[in-house]
Amino acid sequence: MCGIVGYVGTKDAATFVFDGLKKLEYRGYDSAGIASINSQLDIRRAEGKLINLAMKLQAEPLIGSIAIGHTRWATHGAPIERNAHPHADEANSVAVVQNGIVENFMPLRLQLQAEGHLFKSDTDTEVITHLIDKSLAEGHNLTESCRLAFRQIRGAHAIAVISERESDKIVVVRIGNAGGVIIGLGHGENYLASDIPAILEHTQQMVFLEDGEMAVITANAVQYLNLAGTPIHKEIQTIGWDPVSAAKGRFRHFMQKEIYEQPQSIQNTLRGRVNFTTNQVNFEGLKLTSAEAQELRRIIIVACGTSAYAGLVGKFVIEKLAKISVQVDYASEFRYRDPLVDDKTAILAITQSGETVDTLAAMEEGKGKGARLWSIVNAQGSMAHRISQGTILMQAGPEIGVASTKAFTTTITDLVMLGIYLGQLRGTLSTKDREEIITTLACLPELAGEVLAENYNDYDTLANLYHRQEHFLFLGRGPNYPIALEGALKLKEISYIHAEGYPAGEMKHGPIALIDERMPVVCIVTQDHVYDKMISQIEQVRARKGIVISLTNEGDEAVAAKSNHVLTIPKTHPLTTPIISVIPLQLLAYHFAVWRGADVDQPRNLAKSVTVE
Ligand code: AGP
Repeated sequence: MCGIVGYVGTKDAATFVFDGLKKLEYRGYDSAGIASINSQLDIRRAEGKLINLAMKLQAEPLIGSIAIGHTRWATHGAPIERNAHPHADEANSVAVVQNGIVENFMPLRLQLQAEGHLFKSDTDTEVITHLIDKSLAEGHNLTESCRLAFRQIRGAHAIAVISERESDKIVVVRIGNAGGVIIGLGHGENYLASDIPAILEHTQQMVFLEDGEMAVITANAVQYLNLAGTPIHKEIQTIGWDPVSAAKGRFRHFMQKEIYEQPQSIQNTLRGRVNFTTNQVNFEGLKLTSAEAQELRRIIIVACGTSAYAGLVGKFVIEKLAKISVQVDYASEFRYRDPLVDDKTAILAITQSGETVDTLAAMEEGKGKGARLWSIVNAQGSMAHRISQGTILMQAGPEIGVASTKAFTTTITDLVMLGIYLGQLRGTLSTKDREEIITTLACLPELAGEVLAENYNDYDTLANLYHRQEHFLFLGRGPNYPIALEGALKLKEISYIHAEGYPAGEMKHGPIALIDERMPVVCIVTQDHVYDKMISQIEQVRARKGIVISLTNEGDEAVAAKSNHVLTIPKTHPLTTPIISVIPLQLLAYHFAVWRGADVDQPRNLAKSVTVE
């Protein structure tokens, strides 16, 4: 989704901003641009990838020590240069970038056009430029002109503005939950970004704007105020991510790197939460007493995409360990169906980015109805983190590839620990069962490492054989059913192969009609209580001449004998199997995408952080 970067100081601002935009590429975009002020405002914009903007900057460099830049993900108007940000007023003296949507842009545009303003783009953003221009013409200073403009627009946005009139400052605002606004504090220079990785190499001292807050950033100071114009105090936070971990290192793609980081991220997730001596889990961050845990009647998990599939695994785990009913809702549907929520309900939002607008809206819905609000979040300081009463921070580290991988497995690890923790507090988990599952948790990093070390040639062979295929089915049962969904999602999002995930028992109610000798069917069949049921699904696929690709436990000759191809994983506890069984499916999707020559880290039409509805 759109990214914003800004710089004010003494350095070459356009270069700084360009480098920052590169670090936000993972969010997805279709055009980009930068505005800088030397004695006058100057703008370069380009369609497509940042390389096109780089070529323009090389041909006509931007001079100046103040700049704002933007990567655009089109909502209003085609992804062409004319619609790329920054947008300037007619006199080319004010430049604006926006992440979000101006919902009332049409009446504002008509009103401004009637007053004689000429529009150069099809975007909603351009109205902001003209509104600011209008207030400047009426004699207001830049900050006040911005504030007056921001108060007229409806929707959710992050907006940054620079102007020739006061060329020492960037004015920025956050309205609603459309996108993060982070101010980075340097020495004799200050920065602005939509997301931490854009500026982390320059500073760890950051301030996060909340809904309705503005900042006026100069090289040596930052002033904070609300939309009423009243100065406010903001706390500075120190962010601890290692900048090196945001780089690709020895891997060809970020997704590949992130798949291979999973043993480490699972380890980090367990560290400090599980006491392997006392076999206890501690999630103090949830701020939950034993009595409150016992009173809880229901947990509703709200999330989107991969995070929602992790939630489906969580349902199996938490219901089993903590004997509490768990419901999983797509966040995008939750708020539109008047859900039954009360003060005995905990809403658990799962979100890697912490900025997914549907998930944030579902959280607000639950909170408004009196629920306890928890989240599992990867991005420290994100909106979801800040509005939750209790948060479990994922410890996945920065996830750059648009296709989520390590955030999925760390989330499931968190959900298993949450199940144990609630089981402890509610007295539903015997000491023996607790010991058994905690012992299993301790082995997970090693098992994930084993999966990564094996099967490499098998993925490549399968990708070689089937990468021209246009349809795939994924089947699983029990906690492996969400893994079938996730395996299908991974394949479709990065290789553009149509793939469906199904609970295996449902196959006979429809999808079986698709099976013939051209249909590859990935069957997840691990040794658990539904093993025999999965075997009979394999038989049904074979009877219709489908191509069976089984994902099974090492040494399972019975499954191997019934399959065209086999991928194996080590055996683990049924409740932690999904953490291990998803890894071969991530790798399978990765190899298919590479064979098809797809843009693995930035699949078409997708964004890492989905900040529009
Ligand atoms: C994952 O591969 C997807 N790109 C997507 O489904 C993602 O999980 C979803 O948009 C939710 O994102 P979040 O976890 O940041 O809220």
